[in-house]
Amino acid sequence: MIPSYYEFHNPVKIIAGNKAVDNIPYELSLLKARRPLIITDQGVVGAGLLQIAVNAFAGSDAEVGAVFEHTPPDSSNEIVDEVARLFRDNRCDSIVAVGGGSVLDTAKGVNILVTEGGDSLLDYMGADVLKNPLMPLVAVPTTAGTGSEVTAVAVIANPKRHIKMPFTSFRLFPDIAVLDPRMTLTMPPKITAATGMDALTHAVEAYSCGQKNPVSDAYSVAAIGLIRDNLLKAVKNGKDKKARFAMANASLLAGVSFGNAMVGVVHAMAHASGGVAHVPHGVANAIFLPLGMEYNMSKAADYYGELLLPLAGEDVYLSTPKKERPQKAVEVIRELNRALNAASGMPITLKEAGVAKSKLEEIAATAINDGALVFNPKAVEYDDALALARAAYE
Ligand SMILES: NC(=O)c1ccc[n+]([C@@H]2O[C@H](COP(=O)([O-])OP(=O)(O)OC[C@H]3O[C@@H](n4cnc5c(N)ncnc54)[C@H](O)[C@@H]3O)[C@@H](O)[C@H]2O)c1
Ligand SMILES: [Fe+2]
Repeated sequence: MIPSYYEFHNPVKIIAGNKAVDNIPYELSLLKARRPLIITDQGVVGAGLLQIAVNAFAGSDAEVGAVFEHTPPDSSNEIVDEVARLFRDNRCDSIVAVGGGSVLDTAKGVNILVTEGGDSLLDYMGADVLKNPLMPLVAVPTTAGTGSEVTAVAVIANPKRHIKMPFTSFRLFPDIAVLDPRMTLTMPPKITAATGMDALTHAVEAYSCGQKNPVSDAYSVAAIGLIRDNLLKAVKNGKDKKARFAMANASLLAGVSFGNAMVGVVHAMAHASGGVAHVPHGVANAIFLPLGMEYNMSKAADYYGELLLPLAGEDVYLSTPKKERPQKAVEVIRELNRALNAASGMPITLKEAGVAKSKLEEIAATAINDGALVFNPKAVEYDDALALARAAYE
């Protein structure tokens, strides 16, 4: 169904393929920048990936102004404030973010502060408060999940309030997204599994949420097909370059989709589980995706039925009676979760993810205030969120 009105926007230049990272200095020169701050984290440094990015600058006109390599998982506003000082102290003129969503989102937060001025990111919370064009930002994802390299969203933790704060503005789109197959080969199996399920959740939720449209649908369907064929392969054999690159593309496609069509109850529950109980974002999405689909079934069954085709392939789709396709789509995702659990140890219940039962009420109370619910096909009250959290527990 085509909505009577919709908008679709994605201005990010994509450079993708072998040694794409080596083109970053040239891309920066096109943006009139020559002194980037590189932001990354210890996992990425340990995997030797920072070195790949730094090496790209050898013999170029640009030079690395400074490196921040201690981004924590689910980075916080305090870290952003600290990195912004490093940017200013070293007279940087651009940012190259090399890492997963935590690093990419930190870079977006830093970009807000160094452009708008001020010492605290908290002054810029909310949607569309940014008044000026931001500094050039190059995003090099090293996980295949968040799609943050092509979204205008940053999710940053506020540890004092136990929440994850969304920042949204069209100005937050990175200028360049770089997909280089070298950058995801080292991702451990459990992180590969969880981040891949984040990408799948983006694609599925975008296909069934409030702002869905024919263009975002096309991106979702393409992403889901790639995930079906490549996620388990990449988990089982991390060195499979083809599967890795396919997952990087899937994550990007799903990012473009949900950046326009938005996400819903699964992400609301995942943000709350992350803020309250530190469940990694991808793990929480994997746990809540089948439950969220079942919750939405009365409003979104037709969409889920359509998704059985990219989720399971033609044979399964054609041999499943139409009215059974929506629930079959949920079962296919449950099966994928079980296979990922067996192959990598990715938790598939909140209990396995280390969440105390006593936290379920707080997770539900936090979820119902999450902005993602605005676009969910069905309203979610506290009791609904609590039922979902309880069902996810074990
Ligand atoms: N902005 C968006 O559009 C958006 C969308 C979804 C999620 N997010 C946010 O992204 C964050 C999660 O990001 P994530 O799932 O990518 O995880 P992450 O960035 O927290 O990374 C997870 C771990 O993997 C390690 N790692 C990453 N790449 C590696 C590699 N190639 N080799 C070895 N180790 C590697 C990291 O060091 C880290 O320890 C959350 O804060 C979430 O809210 C943002
Ligand atoms: Fe996500």
